[in-house]
Amino acid sequence: MQITTHSLKRKKEKREKIALLTAYDYPTAMLMDEAGIDAVLVGDSLGNAVMGLDNTLNVTMEVMLHHVKMVRAGLNRAMLIADMPYLSYQVSREEAIRNAGRLVMEGGAQAVKLEGSARLFGDVIQGLVRAGIPVMGHLGLTPQYIHQLGGYKIQGRSDEQARQLQLDAMDLQNAGCFALVLECIPSELAAQISNNLAIPTIGIGAGAGCDGQVLVWYDMVGWGRTKFTKNFKDVRSEMLEAFSTYAEEVRQGTFPSEEHSFE
Ligand code: KIV
Repeated sequence: MQITTHSLKRKKEKREKIALLTAYDYPTAMLMDEAGIDAVLVGDSLGNAVMGLDNTLNVTMEVMLHHVKMVRAGLNRAMLIADMPYLSYQVSREEAIRNAGRLVMEGGAQAVKLEGSARLFGDVIQGLVRAGIPVMGHLGLTPQYIHQLGGYKIQGRSDEQARQLQLDAMDLQNAGCFALVLECIPSELAAQISNNLAIPTIGIGAGAGCDGQVLVWYDMVGWGRTKFTKNFKDVRSEMLEAFSTYAEEVRQGTFPSEEHSFE
């Protein structure tokens, strides 16, 4: 059965943890679906992870749509959530609805995610929900605000910041978000927020007290260099070895052999 916003809420009610990963293409999405991942996020992290950019600010709607369509093609059961890229929702509510609508209509996303508080985007979130588009919030380290935040730093360390994050989380729930990503905040704060909310929290660098976890998939198979990622399998090394062996065999003339050639 396909996972929906309702399934995720029920999982929280039953205290079942939710497993999300990012994906950016068809074969990866297909494997995640087969592996039983609950929801797949086409994150604007594709700017860093796939496009080799320094940040997420140059990911456009057209690029997002391109990747959302590929991931849609790979999913049957897992829910598909698409990030709203930089300036796709910050300019006006109307533009936000049109852009989120494209991710749903053209891309096949079942929900969108946007970064920032309800103080800034409460009207946008309500507009999207009114248009039938479920919205996932995102607080803590919000990479689209990197220049304001002054770098990729842990957020919510001071009492004042922590109090504000608690309020912001509740406000996003009240504005209509169905779930909330908490990125790079202290574990205890994330656990408190998760306990206070009825909607599921999905942590990345926010400890085990969240209702679910998300990772950028490259980071969990050998590319990750941050404290909060774990190398579940060193796929990077295996790919590197495969590419090197291929190059060597081509140069030595041992590939293709007769077995890999036509008569
Ligand atoms: O862009 C992204 O991949 C994200 C996740 C890391 C939460 O926002």
